[in-house]
Amino acid sequence: MIIINSIQQLKDQLLLFRKQKKSIGFVPTMGALHQGHLSLIENALKECDLVICSIFVNPTQFNDLNDLDKYPRTIEKDAQMLKKAGCDVLFAPEVNEIYTEQELELKRQKVEDTSWTEGKQVDFGSLDKVMEGAQRPGHFNGVAQVVSKLFRIVEPQKAYFGQKDFQQLAIIRTMVKQLEMPIEIVACPIIREENGLAMSSRNERLTKEERKRAGFIFETLAKMKKLKNNTSIAELKTFVEAQLKTESLIKLEYFEIADAETLQSISDLEQAKSAVACIALKIGEVRLIDNILL
Ligand code: PAJ
Repeated sequence: MIIINSIQQLKDQLLLFRKQKKSIGFVPTMGALHQGHLSLIENALKECDLVICSIFVNPTQFNDLNDLDKYPRTIEKDAQMLKKAGCDVLFAPEVNEIYTEQELELKRQKVEDTSWTEGKQVDFGSLDKVMEGAQRPGHFNGVAQVVSKLFRIVEPQKAYFGQKDFQQLAIIRTMVKQLEMPIEIVACPIIREENGLAMSSRNERLTKEERKRAGFIFETLAKMKKLKNNTSIAELKTFVEAQLKTESLIKLEYFEIADAETLQSISDLEQAKSAVACIALKIGEVRLIDNILL
């Protein structure tokens, strides 16, 4: 596996690959890798000649600077895992390789910056106003900013994202469509720990006891799904809220049942072609999200 830190070096390498007519799959990450990330690499390896993974803790998508500081950085271990998984190139740039000082300053001042779209404005409509967008102002703007930059550098044929971050996936799909980027976005299923807890870098911050009891989140979502055919959405919501209240460790932030395409809340499953139930909660100081397709 080749490890590259500079954009120019990566572009030179990619040019060689393109001359050899190799198809390129891309997996963007922020590192602290686990089996969830590796499953994206595995999917990419099946479908593409070469796989590029990026590790970049993107400062513009954190609305809490403390959270950015605390984000785990385990680059050496990550590189070993990627090499073992068969990844071809690891791109791990420094912040000043990706952003100008001016872009970072705009973000610090919380100025809405649309320059990342290079003249074309992306309209996320109400996609970035609900759920994670409502809880974390500016977060999806930062995600779109960095992913659009990475897409322009790597120019992959396919890019792989986890359904774990369901709303992020919808944001990326919309961005690619509006910016007319010729990249296929591939959605990959959520990888879970043995007790059902969705894998996440944040799980490391839970105590052993909390991590064990966090299996209750998916257990509740799965039970709710079984009830869906003969229960109204209002009742499904009440069910989940009541279940979660019985687990003292969990502080629910939101539970929504939404149209899987528009992410707008629905009051009847008949209203949408497909629906998704999304949840965000805290266990102690650790914020977790999960979802299940209905
Ligand atoms: P990160 O949280 O590192 O996640 C990288 C990718 O791994 C995302 O597509 C995410 O959905 C996927 N992923 C995480 N946990 C997963 C799980 N349990 N099962 C399946 N896939 C999982 O998401 C980001 O980074 C950033 O926002 C990024 C897109 C890299 C932009 O900075």
